[in-house]
Amino acid sequence: MIHLSSVTKWYHNQVRVLDQVNLDLKKGEFIYVIGGSGAGKTSLLRILATEEAPSQGSISLFGYNLATVSPSTLRAIRQSVGYVPQNVRLIPDLSVFDNVALSLSLAGHRSIRGEAKTRIEEVLGRLHLVQKRDKLANTLSGGEAQRVAIARALVRQPQLIIGDEPTGAQDKENTWSMMDLLMKNNINGATCVIATHDREIVRRVRKRCAVLTAGRLGFEEAMCTY
Ligand SMILES: Nc1ncnc2c1ncn2[C@@H]1O[C@H](COP(=O)(O)OP(=O)(O)O)[C@@H](O)[C@H]1O
Ligand SMILES: [Mg+2]
Repeated sequence: MIHLSSVTKWYHNQVRVLDQVNLDLKKGEFIYVIGGSGAGKTSLLRILATEEAPSQGSISLFGYNLATVSPSTLRAIRQSVGYVPQNVRLIPDLSVFDNVALSLSLAGHRSIRGEAKTRIEEVLGRLHLVQKRDKLANTLSGGEAQRVAIARALVRQPQLIIGDEPTGAQDKENTWSMMDLLMKNNINGATCVIATHDREIVRRVRKRCAVLTAGRLGFEEAMCTY
């Protein structure tokens, strides 16, 4: 499902932010990407989310080499990815509901009725956003906006979920609701790549850990000691 081979990334010919990163993930796997601030987590996730190309090395998603893929296949790949960027990026003058609905429209749902509307309402409920449904995105707190970004990514039922510190602005209750929702999607077959700083999550929801240290990726199998 994901194959990274010797992926190296630098910005403006400066130091290497990612250095010869190799990563293989099978469908339905769940992996944490952990590492300190500046370790390269966001850079790695942006490459996985096809928002950025590697400076060297290759990446394939769903069996397609991204360096040679056609624009229409790239569009299809992007529709199968639910990406929660670290800087959230909602559309400020749309309501919470419409931000999430837009994600479905872009994924090809012509009208937001029936099953699509139910799906949006269900994900808003699970993330404690029902009361915020009609609020404009630019009136939300940081934590609420982050939960809308999760809702927007998950409502499409993506095959690959990429979350960049998705619980970073959440209290405990919302953190566990979010983790429950991610696990539910994972059990239903979604592959998950979650960058986090949160030791408690990593300890309580034990999964494979990829540890980034100054751009190098190492693995701690099964029992992550982070
Ligand atoms: N667009 C960019 N241009 C230049 N440097 C960048 C850019 N994005 C990230 N960096 C640098 O790359 C390093 C890794 O950043 P990042 O991937 O955001 O790490 P993390 O998410 O682990 O905190 C940092 O030193 C950061 O300043
Ligand atoms: Mg980051």
